[in-house]
Amino acid sequence: MSDRRRLRACCLALALLVGLVLVTKANSRRTDSVFTTTATPWEDVGGLSMASLEWTACSATHQCARLNVPLNYSEPQAEKAVIAIIRYPATVPADSPLYRGPILFNPGGPGGSGVAFIESAGPALAQLVGPEFDIIGFDPRGVARSTPRVSLFETDAERALWPVGPIRDLNASEDAVARHWARAQITGRLASETAASYLPHINTENTARDMLRIVEAHGREKLQYWGFSYGTVLGAVFASIFPDKVERLIIDGVVDTEDYFDTMWANNLIDADKALQTFFDGCFAAGPNGCAFYAPTPEAIAQNLTDLYETVRARPVPVRTASYYGLVDFELLHGTMLSILYAPLVYFDFISDALAALARGDGGPLLDAIAAAGPRPFECSCDSGKEQFEFLEQAALLAILCNDGRAVPFELDEAERHYKSVAKTSSFGSLFASIRIACSGWPDLPKKHFQGPVGGNTSVPLLIIGNTADPVTSLWAAKKTAKAFPKSVVLTQDCAGHSSLAAPSLCTRAYVRRYFLSGALPEPDTVCPVLMAGSVFRNEELETPVGEQETFSANERHVFDAFQAVQRKSWFGPPRFLL
Ligand SMILES: *[C@@H]1O[C@H](CO)[C@@H](O)[C@H](O)[C@H]1NC(C)=O
Ligand SMILES: *[C@@H]1O[C@H](CO)[C@@H](O)[C@H](O)[C@H]1NC(C)=O
Ligand SMILES: *[C@@H]1O[C@H](CO)[C@@H](O)[C@H](O)[C@H]1NC(C)=O
Ligand SMILES: *[C@@H]1O[C@H](CO)[C@@H](O)[C@H](O)[C@H]1NC(C)=O
Repeated sequence: MSDRRRLRACCLALALLVGLVLVTKANSRRTDSVFTTTATPWEDVGGLSMASLEWTACSATHQCARLNVPLNYSEPQAEKAVIAIIRYPATVPADSPLYRGPILFNPGGPGGSGVAFIESAGPALAQLVGPEFDIIGFDPRGVARSTPRVSLFETDAERALWPVGPIRDLNASEDAVARHWARAQITGRLASETAASYLPHINTENTARDMLRIVEAHGREKLQYWGFSYGTVLGAVFASIFPDKVERLIIDGVVDTEDYFDTMWANNLIDADKALQTFFDGCFAAGPNGCAFYAPTPEAIAQNLTDLYETVRARPVPVRTASYYGLVDFELLHGTMLSILYAPLVYFDFISDALAALARGDGGPLLDAIAAAGPRPFECSCDSGKEQFEFLEQAALLAILCNDGRAVPFELDEAERHYKSVAKTSSFGSLFASIRIACSGWPDLPKKHFQGPVGGNTSVPLLIIGNTADPVTSLWAAKKTAKAFPKSVVLTQDCAGHSSLAAPSLCTRAYVRRYFLSGALPEPDTVCPVLMAGSVFRNEELETPVGEQETFSANERHVFDAFQAVQRKSWFGPPRFLL
């Protein structure tokens, strides 16, 4: 792989779905891991978790700590959950009058690791919000380094053999719905057998309460927060339960919490086809030299993609490259097309090459990129007690979303109906229809926790950010959520992609920084442009965007660098499709 390829390939990691994480069917031989946990103190600390924050250096730039919180907030003296926390410290000293305290982040999922996110993206986020703030990530209870950790299996080998991720393409075969439903019954049984003791405590309300504990452990009363994707559910729940504990709260890439707590996942994709259209239009506008998948009209490009779906459905393309092997089939191609919509600036150029190659019968470029971006390949390290964590843990994803939402007691025929109904909402509906069905075998736990409706008069109004064409969290949901929080303001970022981190915008950055510093909100109906809006396909190398580089002002360069660093670190899980 050339360096250029490698760079883009690493950027193919994306996809919080709301943490949408698609797992390839192929097998990777990649050896570099996304990040190592060797220097983090969680393993060493063992039982000595802390009732207050005691920071330990866990890299040259970051500090880590663990915090005890009640597993059940109604029994504060009983069992504890232990929350893993990381910080990229403010460069302004804590005793300076300029110092403004911690901002907590959540990267989405649910089930996304905030520790992994801030470990990689912390410095870039600090560039966006400013040097006055500590950048704080934490693994929500149930996730990765926090305990209890959701795990449905005794060993990694079992975990690899029975994937529990909720997203499958239900249009992949005639029996896909039935199989997905049937698997969900088994996964649910495993959950009740292996996780029963702690499972009832893994939910977003408790994580919101944990966030308040983290804030208080910093010696402060109110929360400063920026949450993306599922992180907007967490932020909205916090603001609903603790409206007078809000100092600053940004929700960005907003989920419709009503749909979420109904366990429907039926309206995430409202703008997905609008985002896909920007690919067709952009490819057409770029011309045959700018876009390898060019055809004489946007409609012809769309038709070529449809043809490609049909081709690989009928004849999956076998691929063996130097590093990788697997099939390019309908499920992989369809899932990848949704995934690339998360960050057009990063992926459109690459995917046009890969689609053109695929149209020639060569699935190598597509599979190679996914392999390079992919998760840690399965390794059965039988003598190692050390946990390895992926950015998005599928079991935690499933547990949080099934626990949070209303029970899905349905039988197969209802699953079929649900699929047909969601499939109508978008050309990607067959992917998200699987999420509700994945909860259909979940243990029947009491649902006493907060399940909405969200809303409240918060001590400081919310800043709510939505993109004009976000594939999985539409602007509509941002506006709906804003209605529940009086005085909040929706800031629209004019681009395709998921959350404001999908593209660099001087304008968005300025409003975000101003909000964190003073609480001031944009005027209602403010729309922020993004850099390089018209040049997605000419962005040959993300490192040195062709032609644009010299014309960046210092501020633009600053924001572009932050965007690039966040995206390059691939903190959104890779496009992965479950077996
Ligand atoms: C939490 O504790 C309360 C009080 O003991 C109890 O009623 C409730 O069932 C517990 N919650 C869960 C999820 O176990
Ligand atoms: C399934 O995929 C085919 C393309 O292969 C498409 O024509 C059809 O509409 C899809 N069905 C649903 C229910 O999404
Ligand atoms: C796209 O469709 C056009 C016809 O509109 C055809 O000539 C061309 O070969 C197709 N290109 C690809 C890459 O499939
Ligand atoms: C906010 O406060 C107003 C005026 O006190 C009240 O009418 C409204 O119901 C409150 N809204 C929410 C969501 O609590």
